[in-house]
Amino acid sequence: MQKQPALEIRDLRKTYDNGVEALKGVSMRVEEGDFYALLGPNGAGKSTLIGIVSSLVNKSEGEVRVFGVDLHADRSQAMRLVGLVPQEINFNMFEQPLDILVNYAGFYGIPRPEALVRAEEELKKAQLWDKARKMSRTLSGGMKRRLMIARAMMTRPKLLILDEPTAGVDIEIRRGMWKTLKEVNAAGTTVILTTHYLEEAESLCRNLAIIDHGRIIEEGPMKTLLAKLDVEGFVLDVEGRLPATLPAIEGATLLAEDDHTIDLEMPREMELNRVFAALDADGIKVRSMRTKSNRLEELFVRLTGNPELPEKDVPNE
Ligand SMILES: Nc1ncnc2c1ncn2[C@@H]1O[C@H](COP(=O)(O)OP(=O)(O)O)[C@@H](O)[C@H]1O
Ligand SMILES: [Mg+2]
Repeated sequence: MQKQPALEIRDLRKTYDNGVEALKGVSMRVEEGDFYALLGPNGAGKSTLIGIVSSLVNKSEGEVRVFGVDLHADRSQAMRLVGLVPQEINFNMFEQPLDILVNYAGFYGIPRPEALVRAEEELKKAQLWDKARKMSRTLSGGMKRRLMIARAMMTRPKLLILDEPTAGVDIEIRRGMWKTLKEVNAAGTTVILTTHYLEEAESLCRNLAIIDHGRIIEEGPMKTLLAKLDVEGFVLDVEGRLPATLPAIEGATLLAEDDHTIDLEMPREMELNRVFAALDADGIKVRSMRTKSNRLEELFVRLTGNPELPEKDVPNE
């Protein structure tokens, strides 16, 4: 039998009651075992997409399958496969970590003795076992976030989804979470996380999609996307008319935009002199040039240029 993808989404659309079209036809596929990032600015539709996959939000149109299970046709089975870590800390601050985990498992019908075994296991993995009986209000910000992951892992989900798990937390907590998530993934759980930090996606994920205004605008392996970012674009104005064929320059792409303008793309580390020498040899004189901003790069600047202010890891948040 062919292996089912962990998540398969086809032409997913969501229009909220107020008319906002949050998803305008999203298709994506995440393989089992992958660590996948959904990157996008605020308002892009990330939480809506994740809300639909974790059955908190109703879709308007489209198809969602989790390990081959149709979310619409078999919601409860699909729900058992998915663990969600929401953006906001949402456990009761006056409960103890052990109780938070055991009670959560109870909602999913896991018997108490089994829940206790799992809770010990998950709290140890999250380095919170010594806090099992402390009031969770007293945990640091980083510990609270690890507790959120431990709770989601209580049902042993095959797919763990995290919605901006590190938004607004300082870099030390963020790094600690990355370590936890890498361990979860290495142990076999497929992980999808939404983020607006490029750095986070880069250090964790193998594959990613960039979503903006309810549409996926880029998708693929992290490496491929980063390679695209290493390309620089220029527009060259030349004297007179361009010849019918432009010189071939290895590694660079030259296109005639019109009969006196060249569109040039080349790797960032390549020397411009090589291009000029080749053009010169063909009798093409460059009069002026300007840089052409890359669509992807522009997007990344927008995504990463205005990061949220980090919060301190204070015990009472
Ligand atoms: N419950 C809702 N009702 C109406 N509009 C919503 C609701 N939730 C989100 N939206 C809108 O849908 C769009 C996508 O939001 P969201 O999925 O939260 O994006 P992201 O998580 O990427 O920031 C935004 O324009 C947002 O204002
Ligand atoms: Mg969101």
